[in-house]
Amino acid sequence: MVNPAEVDAVVLVGGMGTRLRPLTLSAPKPMLPTAGLAFLTHLLSRIAEAGIEHVVLGTSYKAEVFESEFGDGSKLGLQIEYVVENEPLGTGGGIANVASRLRYDTAIVFNGDVLSGCDLRALLDSHSSREADVTLHLVRVGDPRAFGCVPTDSDGVVTAFLEKTQDPPTDQINAGCYVFKRSVIEAIPTGRALSVEREVFPGLLADGKRVCGYVDSSYWRDMGTPEDFVRGSADLVRGIAPSPALKGQRGESLVHDGASVAPGALLIGGTVVGRGAEISGGARLDGAVIFDGVRVEAGAVIERSIIGFGARVGPRALIRDGVIGDGADIGARCELLRGARVWPGVQLPDGGLRFSTDV
Ligand code: GTP
Repeated sequence: MVNPAEVDAVVLVGGMGTRLRPLTLSAPKPMLPTAGLAFLTHLLSRIAEAGIEHVVLGTSYKAEVFESEFGDGSKLGLQIEYVVENEPLGTGGGIANVASRLRYDTAIVFNGDVLSGCDLRALLDSHSSREADVTLHLVRVGDPRAFGCVPTDSDGVVTAFLEKTQDPPTDQINAGCYVFKRSVIEAIPTGRALSVEREVFPGLLADGKRVCGYVDSSYWRDMGTPEDFVRGSADLVRGIAPSPALKGQRGESLVHDGASVAPGALLIGGTVVGRGAEISGGARLDGAVIFDGVRVEAGAVIERSIIGFGARVGPRALIRDGVIGDGADIGARCELLRGARVWPGVQLPDGGLRFSTDV
């Protein structure tokens, strides 16, 4: 059995989050509000709940905002240190770069954008009892083609790493959480960018290291795209996704302090309404992620979409599967569908963008 208090956690949060632009122009992905908290809070609270105490955040893009939010970590019962990469070193370089801050012989490394219910103690125990050099958390997905596919043999030992292959031999994918022997981290080349998935792991197999998979069927979602971010947020609100940081306040929707929702507005599908937002009568929000200070006018419809800080959605506008940047202004009756993205501060005039000729 591993004592979690003698395990370092490393969280990689240095990515630019390009797939979530324009929201990530103003905030790094792990800091985007998710069910009312910075996304990373959900992960850090899981780490704390597992009994791990020491956390190193590997930062790069917008590095300064992490320390302002989490400080020394004591509010979460953690000791948090920050290591900044002036030039992003990639996921492998980011891990190598924190080696000098590790205190113990075992480190658990997380991608900072994954929402998961994996039992971290069971993962650590599996790593230790199988005497692995590295243990990867693996999950099974319906369509593995968009992920790193990780086949294992009958003993659960990893046999290959296949990044985003069209013909995956298994539905097991890399879930973005790994337990490392510290000595393995210390042997990763430093001073240059490298990918843990594409370079470090295949190199470990080539060197004959014992790399094991730990497969479970807990909740799992990579929050990297708008579609996944919206789903993950709604799952948190509805209690489908676990988070020790949310206590009891789960339901069909979540409305934060200082927000006003007029009678006759309908909030369903795990919708979250941020602080100070105003939702007018007749608006219909289904699976909507409404950041702080947003105004949604009468009769507007927002489905499976994210509305950035301080944006306005005009009367009877329709936004479905879209992302609206901070401070944007969507005029009355505009229609934005299927992956539409509006950049921060852009103003669309009333009726200025439509996908139909209906009035
Ligand atoms: P996209 O640009 O949309 O692909 O997002 P991303 O930049 O976050 O990349 P990706 O989703 O592949 O990253 C997985 C995790 O690793 C995220 O939590 C990132 O913050 C983190 N990450 C990615 N690149 C780096 C890096 O160069 N340094 C550090 N420290 N972390 C990184």
